[in-house]
Amino acid sequence: MLPKSFDCYDRFADYVNAYYNSSMSLDNNPPGNNSGSIPSDWPKPSAEAILHSQALVEYIKSDINEQGGVIDFARYMQHALYAPGLGYYTAGSNKFGSAGDFVTAPEISPLFGRCIARQCRQAMPEIEGDVAILEVGAGSGKLARDILCELSALDSLPQRYFILESSADLRQRQQALLQDSVPEYFAQIEWLDALPSTPFSGIIVANELLDALPVNRLVNQEGGFRELGVSHDNGQLHYVELSGDTAAISNLNQRIAPLLTEFDSAYTAELCLTMDAWLVSLAQCLEHALVLLIDYGSARAEYYHPQRVHGSLRCHYRHHAHDDPFIYPGLQDITAHVDFTAVAEMAVDNQLEVLGYTSQAYFLMSCGLADMVDMEEVSDIERIELAQQVRRLTMPGEMGETFKVIALGRNCYTDLMGFSLRDMRGNL
Ligand SMILES: C[S@@+](CC[C@H](N)C(=O)[O-])C[C@H]1O[C@@H](n2cnc3c(N)ncnc32)[C@H](O)[C@@H]1O
Repeated sequence: MLPKSFDCYDRFADYVNAYYNSSMSLDNNPPGNNSGSIPSDWPKPSAEAILHSQALVEYIKSDINEQGGVIDFARYMQHALYAPGLGYYTAGSNKFGSAGDFVTAPEISPLFGRCIARQCRQAMPEIEGDVAILEVGAGSGKLARDILCELSALDSLPQRYFILESSADLRQRQQALLQDSVPEYFAQIEWLDALPSTPFSGIIVANELLDALPVNRLVNQEGGFRELGVSHDNGQLHYVELSGDTAAISNLNQRIAPLLTEFDSAYTAELCLTMDAWLVSLAQCLEHALVLLIDYGSARAEYYHPQRVHGSLRCHYRHHAHDDPFIYPGLQDITAHVDFTAVAEMAVDNQLEVLGYTSQAYFLMSCGLADMVDMEEVSDIERIELAQQVRRLTMPGEMGETFKVIALGRNCYTDLMGFSLRDMRGNL
């Protein structure tokens, strides 16, 4: 999935070796930028983690030098998250859950995966051929576990459960978790290295994949938007303005023109061209398919709302959320909200139908979340725990409203149960 132009990844081993074998002193100063602005109550990374981050920063600085002194923000984010062996997702830190940096829905409760499984089961008869499930960006592997367990309980196991995971480290963790927790289905699970090259019939599921794809960043100045790039000085990474009109600027201008909105100067916005490219590749391989994408984000009018002056870029380090992508590169997650109107436009442009769009709360409720909880035979204590999980998945102040579910389809004609209580396609 990595762009070919990032062939400098071949050199990553040199950086790792140089840093791990060096006799450099560790002063616990974080690499990157803004070392002075890290709140003192944040947990300090280990000495090994700091060396690791320094190796990544050196690697990024070297790429910046090769590119003439500046790279666009998407390229920086690609390196920070996915540089092989060095990036946040590709190196071995614990990312998910209470011991990591952030929590996703499958980490909160198996109820999430069980609801997705019910939606899959309802759609399966509508899809011709041997229906497979393909999960993209499977994180810890818990969503795969929960979907497979529920489909088995419903007597609807797919022939194959494919996982496409760009991180070799996470792939290993997924294999260990699934081997351990669902050994009886393990033979049905297959890890792919790329999207299928032959026409795919089945269901694609991706939870919090799109928010992890690199974004371009733009800032409004007197006279229009300028694109932000990344450079370095005195060992520190920092933003610079890219010169001239870039593809991201003209793309953003096209997107916001119909909104007829005036943006303040210093308004910052993100644009995810890598998501567009990913959706094109996905659309190319689908024959009969349902695609379920779950993520935080909104329709375009809200996404580029004039009051949203700082954009949606967020970084997560040990459950501290902030907006400085240069703190602890490689040790923190960097994400941005999803423009779901862009998802719908790319889908339609690539001959996919938009079958539904709703909030996570409505989707889960429509898939029978409340009945599922009622029917659990559990102790009082466990029932309280289940109620807490439901609250975190569905309440507006938690994940319920910020997270959305969009369903795309090709040759899949059915009223999907997940959108039966509320379908907000009209907002896109
Ligand atoms: C924010 S995590 C979400 C993990 C999981 N779906 C969950 O909900 O807990 C993003 C996941 O997508 C993976 N990923 C990112 N870009 C990818 C790509 N282009 N293809 C496949 N996996 C990707 C990351 O390695 C990681 O597993």
